[in-house]
Amino acid sequence: MAKEKLKTIYVCTNCGEVYHRWQGQCSSCKEWNTITEDVINTAENSSKQSLLSGYKWIKFNQLSEIDADDNKNRIKTGIGELDRVLGGGIVRGAGMLIGGEPGAGKSTLLLQVCGNLCNDYTVAYVSGEESVSQIKLRANRLGIDGRNIAIATETDVFSICRSIEEYKPDILVIDSIQTMNCSTVSSSPGSVSQVRECTSLLLSAAKKNDVALFIVGHVNKDGAIAGPKVMEHIVDTVLYFEGDKMLPYRILRASKNRYGSTNEIGMFDMSSKGIVEILNPSMLLLEGKGNEVSGSCVTCIIEGSRPILTEIQALTTKTSFGTPRRAAAGIDYNRLNLLLAVLEKRAGFFIRNMDIYLNVVGGLELDETSIDLAVIMSVFSGLTDKAIPDDMVVFGEVGLAGEVRNVVNVDLRLKEIQRLGFKKAIIPAQGLKQINPQDYSLEIYGVSNVRQAIHLI
Ligand SMILES: Nc1ncnc2c1ncn2[C@@H]1O[C@H](COP(=O)(O)OP(=O)(O)O)[C@@H](O)[C@H]1O
Ligand SMILES: [Mg+2]
Ligand SMILES: [Zn+2]
Repeated sequence: MAKEKLKTIYVCTNCGEVYHRWQGQCSSCKEWNTITEDVINTAENSSKQSLLSGYKWIKFNQLSEIDADDNKNRIKTGIGELDRVLGGGIVRGAGMLIGGEPGAGKSTLLLQVCGNLCNDYTVAYVSGEESVSQIKLRANRLGIDGRNIAIATETDVFSICRSIEEYKPDILVIDSIQTMNCSTVSSSPGSVSQVRECTSLLLSAAKKNDVALFIVGHVNKDGAIAGPKVMEHIVDTVLYFEGDKMLPYRILRASKNRYGSTNEIGMFDMSSKGIVEILNPSMLLLEGKGNEVSGSCVTCIIEGSRPILTEIQALTTKTSFGTPRRAAAGIDYNRLNLLLAVLEKRAGFFIRNMDIYLNVVGGLELDETSIDLAVIMSVFSGLTDKAIPDDMVVFGEVGLAGEVRNVVNVDLRLKEIQRLGFKKAIIPAQGLKQINPQDYSLEIYGVSNVRQAIHLI
């Protein structure tokens, strides 16, 4: 190896942008206080060119002659929600990053995956965070007997890579990448260059040996350690745990997937027995819904390929002084204002002296326009104190002229509405034309503007 030539650079721990001098705010991702000092070795680069002659030719294959069957090659984790987010299961040789804040459930989920697979595959779990006895305690709590799970505490990446070559597990878990250390990089574990180097070393060892590699990456708000963003481009799949610790459920979302769609979400319940998949999210979200109360409207959104029912609530009160207050939790504030303007102008409701609060029950963030009509209906119901029937679901996009526009997957939504025992649905008139109402045991009302929808209540 060439002589070391060390150079100090400044790297953003959030996005990985490199600077020559320190600055308070990252110009690339606009985060504050995320830029830290880092040391790199620039010596290697200069000698690389002349070495080309030493390399062998790469071997090309005919695409048509390659034998690949997606379903056969995938390893099912036994956790359906995780398989769905992964795009149908684990792909051999894939590097999968699981990100999330501490306490989100990353270690728990991966230990459960190991527990499910350990009888059919060789599984290894390397932790740099917890001692083996701590992991054993967790396994006991989760009811994993762990006879075939190889477990180790190690932070040295070269030792781990060496073990991959020797041991060739089918599945390897690295918990977490911020504790890993590569001796050729001079900065400390958790820095951007360590995290990057460790990830690429582990990944290339895993790819060479067809090992499916799970890497845990902590998301840390204060920027002292490098976040998962800096390795997003190295790995094949990036999954994030979303959701507040206060919520009864966790959402796992793919933000990158070379082997599947990134639209899918997985929903989990965090219990003392570990992570439990939520097979019926609509049921969970509608739990505790009041009977025939005004200001509440159930709508249907699509997450990935799955319809989910959720409740939207509006509370309206007289403004006590000055400008009316508007607040929205779970939907975009500007969208709420736009929809209120439509309600005022196109349906003739005087709301300038009303405070309006809107809430999506269960803490979901809805960014679909298909909830527009339900937002308007819940506000209308709150204003007039007329309850929307308990067995009714409303969806549709609303335009500025007060027209109700069609949305995608009308049939999928109606099926879910029917499955959960609802009896009535207000949907876009255009959408009604596309389906055969006889297929559903629902009273379906097609509306083409907001006024029509309101008159149905
Ligand atoms: N001994 C325990 N008993 C009950 N619940 C626990 C225990 N230890 C951790 N948990 C729960 O498990 C959750 C997930 O923890 P963990 O999988 O370690 O998260 P991560 O690895 O993402 O930091 C925590 O939020 C906590 O609520
Ligand atoms: Mg952990
Ligand atoms: Zn940045």
